[in-house]
Formats: sequence, structure tokens, C-alpha cells
Amino acid sequence: MAVTIKDIAKEAGVSVSAVSLVLNNRPCRISEEKRKQIREIAQRHHYAPNQAARSLVTKESRMLAFILPDIENVFFSSLAKRIEDCCRREGYMLLIANSNDQYEQDKVLLRNISARGVDGIFIIVSNESYRYKSKLIQELQNLPIPYVMVDRVYEQFVCDKVLYDNEQGAYLAVQHLQENGHTRIGCVVNTASNNGRLRLQGYKRALKEKGIKFDPRYVAQGDYHFESGYQAAQELLKTDITAAFVSNDMMAMGFLKKLYECGLTVPQQFSLVGYDNSLSPFILGVDLTSVAQDPQRLGEEACQLLFTRLKDSQAPAKMVCLPPQLIVRNSVGKME
Ligand code: RIB
Repeated sequence: MAVTIKDIAKEAGVSVSAVSLVLNNRPCRISEEKRKQIREIAQRHHYAPNQAARSLVTKESRMLAFILPDIENVFFSSLAKRIEDCCRREGYMLLIANSNDQYEQDKVLLRNISARGVDGIFIIVSNESYRYKSKLIQELQNLPIPYVMVDRVYEQFVCDKVLYDNEQGAYLAVQHLQENGHTRIGCVVNTASNNGRLRLQGYKRALKEKGIKFDPRYVAQGDYHFESGYQAAQELLKTDITAAFVSNDMMAMGFLKKLYECGLTVPQQFSLVGYDNSLSPFILGVDLTSVAQDPQRLGEEACQLLFTRLKDSQAPAKMVCLPPQLIVRNSVGKME
């Protein structure tokens, strides 16, 4: 049976509040000798504060939650790791919950997690939740605790949010292909997501700046998973494209598989740029150029927003839009 603060007080011959003050390094009128004795007893019994009991007093659980769409996507899992590191440094535990990119899961998880007394929530909404925007906004507004929208946000909805500039990221990717002489550039996007629609806009802006007419035959849909990248390649390789911008690295890997099956080498015979910069160390045979949305920076900004909100519930809502960075490696060749 775990030792309690009462057991320590009894053994040390002091009050429970005296033990609590000493173990929490709070100021109190207890001799140094007695403090040492209390700490020694606690250490000997491997005493750990009962957080549930403690939260009844402090009204804080010191627990936060992060709802994300796909824990198997390295972009999200590496972001979760950075956010957890940040929370631990602030003395919080982080509960990580996977919504499988489903609105219904977003809704249920928000309700169930906030009912368990967490102090705050980070959420990357499901792509599906863009079809239920007003309903999910209602769920967020009903939360009794602070929250931060991360990576995928509702643009007109005022709340604490942090994301990378999706339109600019896609523009940088396509501009890099154009600087290497490519004009017939494929595009794989997930327009079920706001981020995907903005990336398609960035693709179109780069074409327009070079006076290249947008050709819808060069655009294929994906769902951010490997298989959809493979399917998109099957469709786009029927056209005369010489390069492709694929709007996440999971789909870029699927695209690459199809290129290899067609006997096309990268960058010698085909050029490819991905997004997230999350998978290049794992892709054999090519160093993928990709748009980075640094999870460390994104995680730190998200934590900064939530910790500020936890300290000041009345502070004005803040939106942070970060600049993406093109990480040039070796998957884009020059057109002769
Ligand atoms: O890889 C998943 C994609 O969806 C990322 O680009 C991220 O922006 C998320 O919204």
C-alpha cells in the first residue's frame, strides 16, 4: 500500500500541512533538522504525491491533452513528442488521443477528455471537421477549459491558434521546380482539408507568376496517406508532367513507389518535392526535397499559447502563422 502524507506526518510527529509545506518547498516555521527528517522519511517510503487528491485542493490536474488526426503519420507523432517534452518541462502530463481524421471522434474526444478534468487541450482537427465547422466550433466554445487549434485551423474563428503558412509552402515548392526548368508540374493535394486548398492556391500562384496556364489534368486528389500518393501517380503519369509537387511526404513516398515501378529514376528522369519534411531519412534511393513545418517550433508556439491562456483566461486570442522552409536535397533535376 502506498505511503500517504498522513503516514509521514505520524512518523515525523508533525501535522499533515507541515509535511505538505516541506515536501513542496513552501516557506514554513519548521527546523532544518525536522525538514531533513521529513524528506528522509518520504524518500525511504518512495512517497509520490497523490495527484488526484492534490487536484481536489489545487483544482488543477496538471494534465493536458492533444487530439490529433493520425498518430501513424510521422508529422503528427513528431509534433506530439515535441509538445509532450514542452508540457513535461512545465510540470504537465500530456494525454495523446487519435481521432482517425473523423469529426465524430473530434467531438467525442473533446467531450470525454474535458470531462476527465484536464487543464487544457491542443487540437488538430480532422479534415472531416471542415464539413462540420459550425458544430465543432460549438463544441470548442462549450469547453470549460482553454484550448489551442494547431496546424489546421478555422480561419474566421477567433481563438488561440498556430499553423504554418500553407499557401507559401506550396509556392516555394513549385517555384523550386520552375527554377529547374520544369513547366509541366503535377500536384497532389487533399482539398478536403483547408491546408490542402491553400497549398493548391500556392501551386496556382507559382504557375501564374511564370505565365503558365493552370491545367486541371495535372492535379490529383490525395488523403495524406501513402496509398493515395501511389494512386495519384498512376493518374498523373498518364499526362506529360516532368515533375510533381506532392503535399505531404507520406503521399510522396507512395508517388515514388509508382515511379520506381514505371522504371523512372529521381531526379534523373522525374523530379519530386514533398511536404512536412518528415520522412526523408527513411526514403531509400532518393533524398527528398520537402517543405518543412518544423514540429519543434510549432510545438513550442502551441505550448506558449496554452500556458499563457492557463495563466490569463482573459488575454486576447492570438493567431501565430509561421513561415515554412523549403529543405532542398536531391530529388529535383534540371530540365535540359
Ligand atoms: O501530413 C499531414 C498533413 O496534414 C500535414 O501537411 C499537416 O499540415 C496536416 O494538416
